[in-house]
Amino acid sequence: MKEQRIGVILNGVTGRMGTNQHLVRSILAIREQGGVEGADGTRIVPDPVLTGRNEEKLRILAREHGVEKFTTDLDRVLADDAYEVFFDASGTPFRVPFLERAIAAGKHIYCEKPTAVDYGAALRIAETAEAAGVRNGTVQDKLWLPGIRKFRKLRDDGFFGEILSVRGEFGYWVFTGHDPDRPPQRPSWNYRDQDGGGIIVDMHCHWRYLIDNLFGKVTRVFAHAATHVPERIDEEGRPYKCTADDAAYAVFQTDTGVVCQFNSSWCVRVRRDELFTMQIDGTEGSASVGLRKCFVQSAKDTPTPVWNPDIDSPIDFFDDWEEVRPGEQFENAFKTQWEMFLKHVACGDPFPWSLREGAKGVQLAELSWESVRSGGWVEVP
Ligand SMILES: NC(=O)c1ccc[n+]([C@@H]2O[C@H](COP(=O)([O-])OP(=O)(O)OC[C@H]3O[C@@H](n4cnc5c(N)ncnc54)[C@H](O)[C@@H]3O)[C@@H](O)[C@H]2O)c1
Repeated sequence: MKEQRIGVILNGVTGRMGTNQHLVRSILAIREQGGVEGADGTRIVPDPVLTGRNEEKLRILAREHGVEKFTTDLDRVLADDAYEVFFDASGTPFRVPFLERAIAAGKHIYCEKPTAVDYGAALRIAETAEAAGVRNGTVQDKLWLPGIRKFRKLRDDGFFGEILSVRGEFGYWVFTGHDPDRPPQRPSWNYRDQDGGGIIVDMHCHWRYLIDNLFGKVTRVFAHAATHVPERIDEEGRPYKCTADDAAYAVFQTDTGVVCQFNSSWCVRVRRDELFTMQIDGTEGSASVGLRKCFVQSAKDTPTPVWNPDIDSPIDFFDDWEEVRPGEQFENAFKTQWEMFLKHVACGDPFPWSLREGAKGVQLAELSWESVRSGGWVEVP
């Protein structure tokens, strides 16, 4: 069998996303399975080099995972024709400058979201990549989550009739660091605006491609943002002022008439099936979709509630929901998208999740902020 090696520069890979989802769960997993098969039967095998600022961290990461190549000299690998793809999972404010260098070096580009901190820069970098003729893509992982895939099939099968509304609930309690026994489980930059933090720029990128792909093109947004927790403790144990939003409450209208409401918060405790759930209600049925699971209730299984707060409900509202395709195994969502990107680079397979599509997420975040500031609805062109 023919094998095609693709050199991949993995930048900012010592971080949470870079290490777990992109290096281990995607690139190394694809290597372990012997690559991904292109249309003509060629096995496309990614060959990674890890890049970043801290040589020691890179060395430890490389050793832990049996990766041979790592360097702090990005310019050297950018100048090396053995590497065709540049991937970035560094902090959001550094993304555009990295992508600019990689595009100038003629690399194909793949990167985490948000692609930039503001829409102007996100659009510019997409245009720069297009003008240079390099292939490009943005991580839009939620589209391949098991729960979402199960939902999509039901939607395509017409299970819902006409979809009316969507209510998304994302969030969990992120510890502030004030309690020494409970260290914060997210990096501190998430809570500093000056470092590219904030839940709107983080999550509204995801809501943009989810809504656009599943329910209808987003046409208007109404949003409220809050910084509920004013002070947190950083990685060095120092208190810092939270300057970014840690919760956002938003309504999105779409060109199909489906109304989508999404709450995003790092200041809520979870009493739902998963850290992200979405209830979709349609004329013929409803679904509660999580990261992995999907529960449905058809019109015929819908109970008839009667309002009476004086007695305990005679109906257990969790009873009449059925889990869809329980136990079915799916590939990791990031890996699935990586495989498609590698085939896009090697064989020219379609890959619609471009930097330009990624820019739309940044645009929605920016317009959400416009709504927060004005207190009104904002059109999404
Ligand atoms: N797709 C998703 O679901 C998802 C989830 C979380 C985060 N993200 C995105 O992934 C990116 C990384 O987030 P994270 O949570 O892994 O953060 P992190 O802080 O854990 O990782 C950031 C990494 O970038 C490195 N870095 C920072 N500045 C750098 C520079 N100038 N040069 C080289 N490396 C640099 C850091 O050392 C670290 O390794 C962010 O843009 C974030 O928005 C995406």
